[in-house]
Amino acid sequence: MSREGFSGKPRVFLSYARNDGEEFATQLRDRLEKEEAEITLWQDRAKMEGGVGWWKQIEEALDQVRFLVIVMTPAAMQSEITRKEWRYARQRGVNVYPVKGRLDAKLDYESLPNWMRKAHFFDLAREWETFVNYLKSDRQPARVPFMAPDLSEGFIQRPREFDQLIAQLVDAKRENPIALTTALQGGGGYGKTTLAIALCHDDRVVEAFDDGILWVTLGRNPNALAELTKIYEALTGDQPDSDEATLPKSPQDLKKWQSDGFRPSKCLAAWRETLKIYAADAQETSEVADCLES
Ligand SMILES: Nc1ncnc2c1ncn2[C@@H]1O[C@H](COP(=O)(O)OP(=O)(O)OP(=O)(O)O)[C@@H](O)[C@H]1O
Ligand SMILES: [Mg+2]
Repeated sequence: MSREGFSGKPRVFLSYARNDGEEFATQLRDRLEKEEAEITLWQDRAKMEGGVGWWKQIEEALDQVRFLVIVMTPAAMQSEITRKEWRYARQRGVNVYPVKGRLDAKLDYESLPNWMRKAHFFDLAREWETFVNYLKSDRQPARVPFMAPDLSEGFIQRPREFDQLIAQLVDAKRENPIALTTALQGGGGYGKTTLAIALCHDDRVVEAFDDGILWVTLGRNPNALAELTKIYEALTGDQPDSDEATLPKSPQDLKKWQSDGFRPSKCLAAWRETLKIYAADAQETSEVADCLES
């Protein structure tokens, strides 16, 4: 969607935990409405939660706005929904601005994953001007794709295998990605794909690979074009030009594609820092994997 397409749509999605953030959120909403009419807000987010298809609705809302403002309270910090919203917003190139819904002493920053802790938490008592100026600006962050499937509900931890894999992917200080291609090998139905999905959801991995996580399904008859198209969309938010001839079918093509309309700087960064796990069928490494290697 082009940025121009936003006119008339709410700019801000205000997220809060109903338990302990409602009062703060209401005051914030009232103040914005009164003082900053151009900063339009999405309807009440907490009322969406729990209804039929509520997560889908939240995704649709986040697809419309430019900013996700999260009222950080103890309940919001513990909330899996907060993380999911934040992650989804990053994927869609939506700016995420956490605001302090409590005094610092009441907020347990240590409980947050590092990738959340790294953000600036606005103190609205002191930073109101800066905050509203940001909300009026047109900044758009790079998208941080997260293409891994959801982890299934009945997932059982496999700490031994999991920790070995983490050690292959993230350095001991848990800060930087290790530039190794890691493959999982094992009999059919052994849980390779599930383990790879779990890894992608681990906060250490999300944090280390902070340009995003791509997911490619190869299988026995890989459709390289379809997989690359999905990656293109995840990284840019656009459909590639429909002219198939311009889509890469080899590493050389990919280089050309990257230098032609693929927003090279952003995407090359994304290639570099993006997690690649080949679960299963690694020996059948396809054109897609070759392209990703290049
Ligand atoms: N740790 C786990 N906890 C719960 N269920 C699991 C776990 N690992 C695997 N499963 C279940 O076992 C089944 C097979 O797992 P999975 O698809 O990950 O295996 P695979 O090794 O990738 O198989 P294939 O060789 O066919 O690709 C799936 O239904 C999955 O949900
Ligand atoms: Mg598999």
